[in-house]
Amino acid sequence: MLRVRAACKRFGAVIALDGVTFDVAPGEVLALLGDNGAGKSTLIKAISGVHRLDSGSITLDGIDISAANAMAVRAYGVETVYQDLALFDNLDPAANFFAGRELAGPSWLPRGLRVMRRRKMAVRTRELLDRLEVTLPDLEAMVALMSGGQRQAVAVARAVAFSSRLVILDEPTAALGLRESARVLDLVRRLKDDGVAVILISHSMDHVMAVADRALVLRRGRAVGATVPTPDNHEQLVAWIVGADGSRAI
Ligand SMILES: Nc1ncnc2c1ncn2[C@@H]1O[C@H](COP(=O)(O)OP(=O)(O)OP(=O)(O)O)[C@@H](O)[C@H]1O
Ligand SMILES: [Mg+2]
Repeated sequence: MLRVRAACKRFGAVIALDGVTFDVAPGEVLALLGDNGAGKSTLIKAISGVHRLDSGSITLDGIDISAANAMAVRAYGVETVYQDLALFDNLDPAANFFAGRELAGPSWLPRGLRVMRRRKMAVRTRELLDRLEVTLPDLEAMVALMSGGQRQAVAVARAVAFSSRLVILDEPTAALGLRESARVLDLVRRLKDDGVAVILISHSMDHVMAVADRALVLRRGRAVGATVPTPDNHEQLVAWIVGADGSRAI
């Protein structure tokens, strides 16, 4: 479904991606592993339309999205939770949920109508969060006032709610406790059951082993290995991550 071919991206003198090639199938959970600075976030930002590749291509069900912007990629059913979350601090969860797809309508609508639609957004947000078993003490509170874990929950729930083909999660459990992490992993499994593909970036090998079908390791912008993340392959994965085995790009 997703095809990335020879993806290259540099930032000045830094080569963040150096010819990365891989595929993701529908309903597949692909873990993206690698040390700090390996190029993981750059790669997923290229897919989600935040960065444009210098060369290489990205296709989704055969459609070339290499040059598509973030809005267009979302319209293709790809939802991304960024490492820095990209929530609007000054808005409540409902407004964050519907940012860019507001039901409130344009400002020239009569005020009464806008208020009604905003109420509808709040109800819909509550439904979505309930369905995902995410509990927030106060749905009206600005996101800035929430804990790291609650912010993460809103971001993941939003991605799950609106995705249709692919969900990209950049370290979604980084700020979460044990129980909250388990819930995020449950959401990942649910997406998989629905045939939605998932790219999961995580530094937790336990989380990767719990949900991923395959793990792709990046090192210095290159894909250096891919395998099924099982306890048996743990050592191999770590060797690829730290570059202990002298392996070259695949
Ligand atoms: N916007 C940018 N401008 C300049 N350099 C960047 C930018 N984004 C990333 N880089 C550089 O590209 C390289 C890859 O960064 P990237 O954020 O993709 O790593 P990562 O694998 O996500 O690391 P981490 O595990 O720490 O999140 C790093 O050397 C980083 O400094
Ligand atoms: Mg990153």
